[in-house]
Amino acid sequence: MKEALQYSETEGRNFSREELVTLLSLTDADEIAALFKEAFDCKIRTRGDKVYLRGLIEISNICRKNCLYCGLRHSNISVRRYELDDETVLKEAGFAYDAGYGSVVIQGGERRDGEFISRIESLLRGIKKKGNIGITLSLGEQTDETYRRWFEAGAHRYLLRIESSDRNLYARIHPDNNLHSFDERLACLESLKKNGYKVGTGVMIGLPFQTFENLADDLLFFKETGVDMVGMGPYLEHDMTPLYEYRNLLMSGHERLLLSLKMVALLRLMMPDINIAATTAMQVLDPYGREKAIMAGANVLMPNMTDPDNRENYQIYNNKPGINDDAEITKSKIIENLESFGIRIGWNEWGDARPVDNRQ
Ligand code: 5AD
Ligand code: SF4
Repeated sequence: MKEALQYSETEGRNFSREELVTLLSLTDADEIAALFKEAFDCKIRTRGDKVYLRGLIEISNICRKNCLYCGLRHSNISVRRYELDDETVLKEAGFAYDAGYGSVVIQGGERRDGEFISRIESLLRGIKKKGNIGITLSLGEQTDETYRRWFEAGAHRYLLRIESSDRNLYARIHPDNNLHSFDERLACLESLKKNGYKVGTGVMIGLPFQTFENLADDLLFFKETGVDMVGMGPYLEHDMTPLYEYRNLLMSGHERLLLSLKMVALLRLMMPDINIAATTAMQVLDPYGREKAIMAGANVLMPNMTDPDNRENYQIYNNKPGINDDAEITKSKIIENLESFGIRIGWNEWGDARPVDNRQ
């Protein structure tokens, strides 16, 4: 790790697939700590020491898809489906603004009905009227036209995880039909970029059937596609999903978290100036999982703002943390946790990835 500065900081490290596999397999505690430290220092030099907050609005758990790993899948009839009304969404966006989060993420299951698309469009305009607040959408695969409409209405970032960059693994964790197409997912990422969004993607880590080679390829995929943000976290079981059957193939929770932290650190070294999220799934496996991710190179965190009544209905995996907390309590816990690690918060800042020409 000593040759740290022999590469261009903006372009980042060009690890080979083999090097990545070796680094992901590290078991020596000192070597792992050195990797995390190098990634943390790289982040401080390129992005500064602040963490940016994005208030999370879980707008609806209604989803037309049937991903084999997700508790919100269409076929899970035990979920009580909900949709927040406009007033609640605007109230939560107002909370984010007043709380100084600077930015919100509207996340929900995938829906393509005209009513939903128009509703999002008018909500975007409504939120924009509240003030200078950045808006990220995470509402799945949509048509080029829908992405364009939402962008024009004020969304400027979009999160759409590739889930796995390996098409065979993608096929094993999704049903075999044209609602769940790897090529369609790639086309959507292209369309988002073309429409002017800052594009975020990501993968799950520690999936059944997943290899270190798959994860190395995921990192190389992020770099090749030149994404602006990455949100990735450990795969977690949900007992009402088909993938639960393969839980005996999984690494321990501890190993999945450690692997996720290594993924964050390596990605930071490869793409020094992007936004990398410390995800909620990390917090499930360790109460300080997200803070540990920040110490390994992540710089974005998404405090949940959903009311406790609906939070419990938005369970993509079992044991979602903070299920009884409201937006205010979530905020104070996050501030306390970050402070205990000496991590500074970028209040009232959008925290966009630094625009760099070589990624256009
Ligand atoms: N474990 C971890 N992450 C999951 N997601 C969905 N189901 C699970 C799970 N069981 C992630 C996917 C999706 C995001 C909204 O949540 O990566 O893109
Ligand atoms: Fe729906 Fe997203 Fe869950 Fe897939 S991962 S079932 S698209 S909410």
